[in-house]
Amino acid sequence: MEKASTITPELIEKLVYTFYDQIRQDALLGPIFAAEIKDWDHHLPKMVAFWSSITLKTRSYNGRPVPAHVKLEGLTAAHFDHWLELFEKTAHDIFTPEPANTFTSRAHQIANSLKMAIDVQRGMLPGMEGALCA
Ligand code: HEM
Repeated sequence: MEKASTITPELIEKLVYTFYDQIRQDALLGPIFAAEIKDWDHHLPKMVAFWSSITLKTRSYNGRPVPAHVKLEGLTAAHFDHWLELFEKTAHDIFTPEPANTFTSRAHQIANSLKMAIDVQRGMLPGMEGALCA
């Protein structure tokens, strides 16, 4: 299939649905999503709205990503690395490098802020582990 050089609503939908198809079959991440998401018909359109708001400025997403992830117990950097790896692969399968990088660079930024929020929630402000344990 020829890769797309423009981000459209249809291709965002394709990206999201293809990505979560893979996530659901993934040995590391699949069980986490299976335990949390009861209604995929609600989650997937929400994720389409999320990426549309970021890349097409549609303002169609108004959820709160931080609490959705902070509540997941046992998430590690390895989970985020693997999520990003799968997402990057899907984005580059569908899009030419420039639009694919628009998605992946935002995904990396957001993953970093989610990891930071999780660390703070666990009482481990980066670089302050010693201070907090003292
Ligand atoms: C370790 C990697 C990740 C895991 C295991 C994970 C898991 C989840 C789960 C289980 C939910 C559903 C929570 C619920 O509905 O109660 C969720 C929601 C969501 N995730 Fe992730 N996620 C990961 C990384 C990311 C990243 C990197 C992004 C953004 C680039 C992201 C964006 C979102 C958004 C926007 C929602 C919807 C939050 C809302 O309800 O408004 N996730 N995630």
